[in-house]
Amino acid sequence: MTEKQRKILLTSALPYANGAIHIGHMLEFIQTDIWARFQRAQGHECYFAWADDAHGTPIMLSAQQAGISPQELIDQMNEEHQSDFRDFGLSYDNYSSTHSPANRELVEAIYLQLREGGYIDKKTISQFYDEQEGMFLPDRFIRGTCPKCRTEDQYGDSCEACGSTYAPTELIEPRSAVSGTAPVMRESEHFFVRLADFQDRLHAWINNGRMQKEVVNKIDEWFTDGLRDWDITRDAPYFGFEIPGTTDKFFYVWVDAPVGYMASFRELCEKRGLEFDDWWGPESEAEVYHFIGKDIMYFHTLFWPAMLMGAGYRTPTAVYAHGFLTVDGTKMSKSRGTFIMARTYLDHLNPDYLRYYFCAKLGPGTGDIDLNLDDFVQRVNSDLVGKVVNIASRCAGFIQRYFEGALSEELPEPELYARFAAGREGIAADFESRNYQAAIRSIMALADEANRYIDEHKPWQLIKQEGMETEVQAICTQGINLFRVLITLLAPAIPHTAQKAAAFLAAEVGPWADLDHPLLGRAINTFEPLMARVDPVKVDAMIEASRESLKPSGQETPAPLDLADEIGIEDFLKVDLRIARILSAEAIPEADKLLKLTLDLGQETRTVFAGIKSAYDPDQLSGRLTVMVANLKPRKMRFGVSEGMVLAAGPGGTELYLLSPDDGAIPGTRVT
Ligand code: MSP
Ligand code: ZN
Repeated sequence: MTEKQRKILLTSALPYANGAIHIGHMLEFIQTDIWARFQRAQGHECYFAWADDAHGTPIMLSAQQAGISPQELIDQMNEEHQSDFRDFGLSYDNYSSTHSPANRELVEAIYLQLREGGYIDKKTISQFYDEQEGMFLPDRFIRGTCPKCRTEDQYGDSCEACGSTYAPTELIEPRSAVSGTAPVMRESEHFFVRLADFQDRLHAWINNGRMQKEVVNKIDEWFTDGLRDWDITRDAPYFGFEIPGTTDKFFYVWVDAPVGYMASFRELCEKRGLEFDDWWGPESEAEVYHFIGKDIMYFHTLFWPAMLMGAGYRTPTAVYAHGFLTVDGTKMSKSRGTFIMARTYLDHLNPDYLRYYFCAKLGPGTGDIDLNLDDFVQRVNSDLVGKVVNIASRCAGFIQRYFEGALSEELPEPELYARFAAGREGIAADFESRNYQAAIRSIMALADEANRYIDEHKPWQLIKQEGMETEVQAICTQGINLFRVLITLLAPAIPHTAQKAAAFLAAEVGPWADLDHPLLGRAINTFEPLMARVDPVKVDAMIEASRESLKPSGQETPAPLDLADEIGIEDFLKVDLRIARILSAEAIPEADKLLKLTLDLGQETRTVFAGIKSAYDPDQLSGRLTVMVANLKPRKMRFGVSEGMVLAAGPGGTELYLLSPDDGAIPGTRVT
């Protein structure tokens, strides 16, 4: 097992500095941390360096609203984020902020190199401008009536009701979400990176054999659509870095955010005396990996490598995308209490529980990961407490009581130990390929075997027989050594528990190479319980604490309903509402909000595209009854023709509730 020592640099995506960390973020950060710890345990030189993503309009506005400076806001968040990370046991080597001197320096240098290389064009564009606030408005800060379905109060780029996407200029009665006033069009000169110049190099990089299949396919689609020039400019006021040579223009947050990966690592180089160019220089032989969510692939597989290529740096070895976290089968939801903040989790439960559960569910692909709360309790209790910790607790007592903590000089079954230690290789290969769930399956199979060994040798019976003491000591020494293999293999996932196990074993739990030699002829310490069972009552308490009450307290008199214009019954009857049964529902990967529904109307089936993806897991919808507008003129959308509309209520996002009749209603019957 002597492999050449590798140089590995890891990053997680940089969380925005205007919000608290939730367990969805933690899925990614834990995935990265397990890999970092795993690589270090193989003896590689592995660093994990990252930062808060501190720039952009939302952060500027959040600070304004809170009545503090952006600097105060981002400092406060940085501290909060890091306290969550430390308590979850993330073993990063450096955590910085994109609003740092090191980052400013690198961003400016990269920009100047791109400019010198001739990759940057200037173009005048017109955009909505809020005259009252004196600012250009990003799409997300413009609201208005959807040009397609006429639903009011939709975002400037897409409609949550019908799912269509459009330019903000197509909105009916656009308004600034900042001041509420009607915006005007204003021109401004922007800088653009000509991405198409990098197409061939990007293509070669993406096909380097290290990327996930799903990622390569996605990028191929983007190539087919053609690479458009990338606008890297934002006008003042903006919280970010000024573009050199201008006074009122700033770099778009997605320019300096990925450079933050480098800047954080550069800070680490200064602290540890590492050579920055050995890692990021064009001749670097180090490996660089970015762990990200699938929602930010575009930035990491096109913009970022293009910037690196244009500025003469190396490109990442690979970008590893993961899917989204759902809780009990649906998007995390504040009203259901499943939008769980990292701190709320930590207030109720042991971080290793969640680290283990995520590890047991993560695979190498980009599929979503479900945290099923019942399964979580059951799985952690049966695997970790029932199988792994149990081995140690079954053997430790005898060693303490009868042998003053001393392990025997030899193993009674060295082949069994050797087989456990040899299991490392396959398990290492699974961790290496990010197939954590497969690694956990193999480790648990070994745990079953270790328990079987103790069951068969029954030290609790032998100890009662005259002259069998040495035998008991040997059996328990064997058991404790098998436990040591298991806890060493699990340590990247459950570092807090591994730490406690190290105190018990009176030996470091870390390098996998240590498993070449069993612990023999030495003393161990008294066994302290390594991990308590998950208490389902605490899980419930965590959900309760996460539930946002639907009615804010202190609001005694409700505001009057903002009703639409009055209509007569004849107007209402023009709308033909029918009971429909959802035969199937599928997500449209290219659309953030749309599900494709196949509806049974008794006599016929219809296809409807509904903007409810953020609130429903498609698998949960099939079979259920709902209500649809059946005489709506069919509408051609990007993904097909939508033949009607289903009815749902709520402000949008995860808070959308599909209407449904009582059971027994017959598909196709009219609703009056
Ligand atoms: N600031 C950008 C990243 C810049 S990287 C140069 C950003 N920040 S984020 O806070 O919105 O998200 C940080 C990471 O958390 C992203 O990779 C995102 O995909 C991931 N996740 C956020 N919510 C998630 C889930 N519910 N589930 C899994 N990952 C999630 O994007
Ligand atoms: Zn619409």
